Amino acid sequence: MPDVDDAQDGKDYHIGVPMQSNAFFLKGSNSLDWGMKNRLARIFNPATGKTVMLAVDHGYFQGPTTGLERIDIAIVPLVPYADALMITRGALRTSIPAEMAKPVVLRSSGGQSILKELSNELVAVDVEDAVRLNASAMAVQVYIGGVHEHQSIGNLVKVVDAGTKTGIPTLAVTGVGKELVRDAKYLGLATRICAEMGAHVVKTYYCEKGFARVAAACPVPLVIAGGKKLPEPEALKMAYEAIDQGAAGVDMGRNIFQCEAPIAMIQAVRAVVHDQEKPDKAYELYLSLKRDAVPNRS
Ligand code: R5P
Repeated sequence: MPDVDDAQDGKDYHIGVPMQSNAFFLKGSNSLDWGMKNRLARIFNPATGKTVMLAVDHGYFQGPTTGLERIDIAIVPLVPYADALMITRGALRTSIPAEMAKPVVLRSSGGQSILKELSNELVAVDVEDAVRLNASAMAVQVYIGGVHEHQSIGNLVKVVDAGTKTGIPTLAVTGVGKELVRDAKYLGLATRICAEMGAHVVKTYYCEKGFARVAAACPVPLVIAGGKKLPEPEALKMAYEAIDQGAAGVDMGRNIFQCEAPIAMIQAVRAVVHDQEKPDKAYELYLSLKRDAVPNRS
């Protein structure tokens, strides 16, 4: 029984001071339940409204991708510099120490390989397992214009519904088939459909022309994928332009873990995303951190 001997009337009621009721910091997220908001606030830094998500889920359809041959060796040292880790449950359980305190964005669709039609996915994780793994979000690929467009939207709907019951947000990833053009018209269509179907965050690609419109028309936070490995100055410029035009962060993989100095690169990306550092300054930071890490290389 609670100790009531010393119970006293409280004094600090602040009568006349309105109860604080601030809008949640992420766009389109104010009507979500507390658990959803709390998970999103683990992925996105409330101080900047942005995230640097490290994507290492590529093995779910392309096997041991360059840079991900040994996640335990190559990726674990990068985790402290990321705001969140996007990963499959297999890689998480086998290769990432449970002491890691970073939020997990759990790859939750799959079922195909690079040898077959990429859009032929299914829901590949039960939401109960996402809860068991303490996931902060579930990620589902959506293939607008793809052979299995309808099925992939169905996967998104199933995961959003399961996540809504448990308080886990869904990240929709716009998968773009080789036959499709990654222009603002297509990306605007794909991202908007994902948000309208209930995704809480959408991931897409940056496009040189019209990205600001894509970001503006997406009513939830939009993050960009890095795509294939680029020279570091180009990757930093792309991240800068995306943030400048309305992206809420990056979900970047190969442009970090395929670098010669991945820890230097992720810190340079952080400077762009969280501090709005200009690309040339961020590249200087990359070079200086790389020199410190690998002294004999420029
Ligand atoms: C691709 O399907 C995976 O979901 C990756 O997470 C995504 O492409 C981001 O990685 P990258 O920056 O290497 O493109």
